[in-house]
Amino acid sequence: MGLDIKKIREDFPALHQLKDGKPIIYADSACMALKPQLVIDTLIQYYTEYTACAGRSPHAFSLKTTRLYDEARKDLARFINAKNPAEVVWTRNTTESLNLGSGCLKYDGSETIITTSESHNSNLVKWVRLKNLGRVNLEIIEMPLNGIFNIEELTRVVEKCEVGKIFASLNHTSNVTAAHIPVQEIAKIVHEREGILQLDGAQSFPHLPIDVQKLDVDLFGASMHKACGPTGMGFLYGRYKLLQEIEPLILGGETVSDVHYPDDITLLNPPAKFEAGLQNYAGTIATGAAVQYLTSIGMENIAAHERLLSRTMLTGLNDTFGDKILILGPEDPSIRTALAAIDLKGINPHEAAILMDDMKNIFLRSGFHCTHAYHHSLGLNEGTLRPSFYLYNTVEEVEIFIETLKEIFDLMT
Ligand SMILES: Cc1ncc(COP(=O)(O)O)c(C=O)c1O
Repeated sequence: MGLDIKKIREDFPALHQLKDGKPIIYADSACMALKPQLVIDTLIQYYTEYTACAGRSPHAFSLKTTRLYDEARKDLARFINAKNPAEVVWTRNTTESLNLGSGCLKYDGSETIITTSESHNSNLVKWVRLKNLGRVNLEIIEMPLNGIFNIEELTRVVEKCEVGKIFASLNHTSNVTAAHIPVQEIAKIVHEREGILQLDGAQSFPHLPIDVQKLDVDLFGASMHKACGPTGMGFLYGRYKLLQEIEPLILGGETVSDVHYPDDITLLNPPAKFEAGLQNYAGTIATGAAVQYLTSIGMENIAAHERLLSRTMLTGLNDTFGDKILILGPEDPSIRTALAAIDLKGINPHEAAILMDDMKNIFLRSGFHCTHAYHHSLGLNEGTLRPSFYLYNTVEEVEIFIETLKEIFDLMT
């Protein structure tokens, strides 16, 4: 049975608003997902009822904060099937998580970072910078227009690298091609050469059931704001042994068990050694609420609903526009999330996005979506138009998007 979308929409107050007297169609969830009332209430409760630090003071507010803070980590660990809550490190977002994960590198010049050409800037810019500084080698696997990962190319690249000196940081699900990579197959190839596999889970974590043990990944980073959670919250999952080796990005209060003047510091075990200073308690506890919310709907159900939206969008776009547009990513809607980066072939994507809002209150994104290099490599120098749908979107909304795009084409060509 499909999701009860009418009921789900009741949970999202942002969808109850009208703009110019008409409902809005929110199609920008790949950038920022809307928040259910449960998450909003959890944030407000922290600030109104028990604002305090976790793990410091002995009073009731602090004890409650400590309990809920610890429970959120357990909820997230369970949600991604981590072996142990201590394998979950809180961060601000995916970008910070991926940067933190790379702290396992030794920078002795012999290591190779492997990524793909459609990587988001948060999984590319730092690697290019490190290569330019001469600290690592960098291999970029070309991602074709259809978004299908080239496993033979990975095998070839991995075989060239020194054993034990490989750090593959790959995009689990693309924010432009919408495609997933075959993680288990990739993990096998990387691990056979004693490499480390880090996944950018920004676009998979909100949309698919994630089981880090089954995927056999070493590191996995994601953001909560794309998964119905608060802004300013993300996490890095890491195998415990690997987390022990990773160098923290920031050090300070709460990361040490003891300090003796002038140079004796004892770092705490993970995850504490990575979580310096006073934390985002409200955001972390609301992260727990977001995880509970998604669990109550069921990630399999969300994925199935997105496949329906994806099929509706791809079929509708192909039937209406044929080769007047170019849709990045696989033709098969069942192997995509419900987003599409579309080249409008001559129509400026920014103008189209503004018209979408003006004409039908459709909120979506245009531009490079932080994948400048990939867009440039495809000659898409003005970017693309990107609708991205989620659990609260209806098939009718997808159809209105296609009809409106047709109106824009009629207007502008
Ligand atoms: C595939 C992908 N990776 C990484 C990110 C970066 O996420 P954040 O800005 O939350 O760090 C995004 C965000 O759009 C993304 O889509």
